[in-house]
Amino acid sequence: MRLVLVTLCILILFPLWASSFDEKMARKVFESRCSICHPLEWSLERKKTKKGWKETVDRMRKKTAGNIINEEDAAIIVDYLYKIRGK
Ligand code: HEC
Repeated sequence: MRLVLVTLCILILFPLWASSFDEKMARKVFESRCSICHPLEWSLERKKTKKGWKETVDRMRKKTAGNIINEEDAAIIVDYLYKIRGK
């Protein structure tokens, strides 16, 4: 019985822990990459569709010389911005 309860707790708590962990990591990626040229507010005061954020992040990547925002970071940033500033 106790084992069942412990298993249930893990099953319920793990996704919560995993999702908050992800969001923290994503926020760090966003804050470090998207504050290089302009304040984060430029992004945070807008709401965009997922497609809209993808287009914006792709446009920003083209402005950066070199590889400041790689493809993996770009995907994380798009998901993060859509989650907190999606429409
Ligand atoms: C190399 C410098 C640079 C970096 C890095 C950069 N931006 Fe920009 N961003 C600009 C400039 C310049 C403008 C204003 C001109 C324009 O809109 O193209 C701008 C404008 C914007 C705008 C307002 C215009 C719009 O399309 O809504 C948003 C939102 C934005 N940036 C988000 C981001 C995000 C998110 C990131 C991180 C992925 C980022 N920026 C990284 C240079 C940068």
